[in-house]
Amino acid sequence: MNIITQTADGSNTLYNETIGEHYHSKHGALQESKHVFINAGLKYAAGEKSGISVLEVGFGTGLNFILSFEYCVQNNIDIDYTSIEAFPLTKEVINQTGYSAYVSPKTWDDFISNYEEALNKKQTLSSYCKLEIPHTTLAGFATDKKFDVIYYDAFSVQHQPEMWSNEIIAHVCSFLKPGGTFVTYAITGNLKRAVKACGFTIEKLPGAPGKREMLRAIKM
Ligand SMILES: C[S@@+](CC[C@H](N)C(=O)[O-])C[C@H]1O[C@@H](n2cnc3c(N)ncnc32)[C@H](O)[C@@H]1O
Repeated sequence: MNIITQTADGSNTLYNETIGEHYHSKHGALQESKHVFINAGLKYAAGEKSGISVLEVGFGTGLNFILSFEYCVQNNIDIDYTSIEAFPLTKEVINQTGYSAYVSPKTWDDFISNYEEALNKKQTLSSYCKLEIPHTTLAGFATDKKFDVIYYDAFSVQHQPEMWSNEIIAHVCSFLKPGGTFVTYAITGNLKRAVKACGFTIEKLPGAPGKREMLRAIKM
């Protein structure tokens, strides 16, 4: 059961009763998504590129997706977005998040009208954007495709330690292009060792409010 709750910046998140954790930082869902995934991830990886491919782990409410889509529309960047989700939310729940307020009506409509179909197969949302939400666990995900940036947005190591094991980190990192960017809101000694073992260089960046630091890593 997921319960909608408000975070400190006024944006909503969901509380997952089974896992015992919120989908976003309770210090601010919107500001966390912008800080970690858009500013440290997408903007950094996109640079001057005219197109970008994103692999997200944990689509959840789609907040990271809609902000990425909006950024790419505004900056004339084609975005090809794949987001793995083991437990997709219903369209009704996503509609209750209030996140339509954070993007243009067209971006929201392109997203919400294609959400359910994107769980079955890749959808073209606009001339700028393709979205696919493979309904699978990360461990069960396989593709020959390589991505420019990975948003690692799993529940925390305290509540889902299996999502932070060396094996699963190596698995997800295998989908990144050389020179590609891996970002996540968390940083632990074990995570740093796991990405270094995959041949990445790591950067500690200031975290979103409520977290001292976050991790960005680049595949060599
Ligand atoms: C922290 S939330 C993600 C928040 C999301 N990015 C958003 O903006 O709403 C973690 C997500 O991972 C999903 N998840 C849990 N176990 C998973 C697994 N083994 N493989 C893929 N996704 C998983 C959960 O259902 C949840 O949607």
